Amino acid sequence: MQRLVLKRKEFMLLQAFIYEHIGISLGDHKIYLVQARLAKRVKALGLESFGAYYDFLVADQSGVEFEYLSSLISTNVTSFFREAKQWEYLKSYLPTLLEKKEGKLRIWSAACSSGEEPYSIAMFLKEYLPRDKTYDIKILATDVSSKVLKMAMRGVYTSKACANLDTHYLKSYFSEHPHESQRLYHVSPSLKQMIVFREFNLVTGDYRLLESVRFDIIFCRNVMIYFDKPTQNRLVERFYTLLGKEGYLFIGSSEALTDMKKGFYSKSASIYQKV
Ligand SMILES: C[S@@+](CC[C@H](N)C(=O)[O-])C[C@H]1O[C@@H](n2cnc3c(N)ncnc32)[C@H](O)[C@@H]1O
Repeated sequence: MQRLVLKRKEFMLLQAFIYEHIGISLGDHKIYLVQARLAKRVKALGLESFGAYYDFLVADQSGVEFEYLSSLISTNVTSFFREAKQWEYLKSYLPTLLEKKEGKLRIWSAACSSGEEPYSIAMFLKEYLPRDKTYDIKILATDVSSKVLKMAMRGVYTSKACANLDTHYLKSYFSEHPHESQRLYHVSPSLKQMIVFREFNLVTGDYRLLESVRFDIIFCRNVMIYFDKPTQNRLVERFYTLLGKEGYLFIGSSEALTDMKKGFYSKSASIYQKV
């Protein structure tokens, strides 16, 4: 089959579309990455060029092609208990948080990928909340990609995905099932019921849907890095509004709120508190 080449003009159209609709800012040098990630899809649709693909994408009113595009362009890499230092911090802060909140907690995993992040939050709370009290806990987990959200809702992980998970967690919160030549780990219903999964685009989403909630903690980790500064700024302002008094924002360790942390106090690397 003939190799598809992404022409500069075609790349610029896709680059602008991706920026406007997903928020991801692709530098000009990403032309080869876009070509590599989209070529298979363009061929599967029977299209002869990336230009024809762009026309198809723009004309598609069903949202299906946008879904394919976001899944192919975004990086979905994630893992259980990623950013170990943040969990240590949370452990030390939890008693204060619970005292202030009188047992009611609202947490948002704002780009949850295939679910390892919200399930880590749920396991963490199960482990460290005092057992002699009842708590009203809701974890909202959102992502732009319905493909990864489906995986998150299914909550089935390979032994490779669970490789870094302590055996205590595996035994307490997963059931093990043989599948073909491997073992799969199914998340327990007790974790699933703590989480509400929803599709939400951080850049173009309707934030009025979230206005009634005041979050105690927002996890927005390893996604802002793909956005440009103005988009990051707008997002951080949104988070500020949605957080309750003294609420926390956790970002990825390779990200920073420099120049835009108005109203946020830096507590530790990549952990910010609303003043
Ligand atoms: C690298 S993963 C990070 C997952 C998790 N937060 C972590 O730190 O392990 C980035 C996720 O951001 C999502 N994403 C990219 N652009 C987005 C947008 N505009 N709105 C919401 N999610 C987005 C991707 O679909 C992907 O699942």
